[in-house]
Amino acid sequence: MSQEKTLYMTLLMSPDMANFAGNVHGGALLKMLDQVAYACAARYCGTYVVTLSLDQVSFKEPIKVGELVSFRAHVNYVGRTSMEIGVKVVTEDLRNKEKRHAVSCYFTMVALDENGKPTPAPPLKFNNEFDKKLYEAAKMRQEMRRETQRRNKEITAGIPSYNPDLSETDDDS
Ligand SMILES: CC(C)(COP(=O)(O)OP(=O)(O)OC[C@H]1O[C@@H](n2cnc3c(N)ncnc32)[C@H](O)[C@@H]1OP(=O)(O)O)[C@@H](O)C(=O)NCCC(=O)NCCS
Repeated sequence: MSQEKTLYMTLLMSPDMANFAGNVHGGALLKMLDQVAYACAARYCGTYVVTLSLDQVSFKEPIKVGELVSFRAHVNYVGRTSMEIGVKVVTEDLRNKEKRHAVSCYFTMVALDENGKPTPAPPLKFNNEFDKKLYEAAKMRQEMRRETQRRNKEITAGIPSYNPDLSETDDDS
């Protein structure tokens, strides 16, 4: 049986998704991205999945209310229980049909069993050279994530951890 590695979703940006400037709220878009990545990974695995991480996302230009936004999610990489899902977002102005690439990002999702424990995801099969290239790039990003975590530990090593106990800052006058 062929693996379903790609998922498409298209949504019209409605006024309830707007921020105070009248463009699409960044948080609303992040939620949509997470839903697309979830659906792509869950369909691929046939199990429940959770989001472990989302790599840096940059919104270089606003997405406007009234635009038609298309998401393409793809399983780029499968480890044992984790997967990288790449999501590309293209937005279209319905009046002049102009399309632009709004954002691309990478989620790490983990497959879970009925007890909520990580469970193996189906090994990835390559259909063509493009799939292989996506896999190789995703593997390098995995290494970069590990390196970033390691560097971040070093960078923040000397910083005292934030104390969320508000009683220390309470005004006791
Ligand atoms: C995702 C989760 C199940 C992983 O649990 P865990 O105890 O770390 O499980 P494991 O050690 O078996 O790791 C599972 C996979 O995640 C990967 N992983 C775990 N921590 C990682 C990290 N910090 N960075 C990158 N990969 C990581 C492991 O390498 C493993 O992948 P592999 O099987 O392909 O090699 C757990 O962290 C969790 O439940 N997180 C909350 C998820 C969630 O609720 N998301 C919504 C946010 S509100």
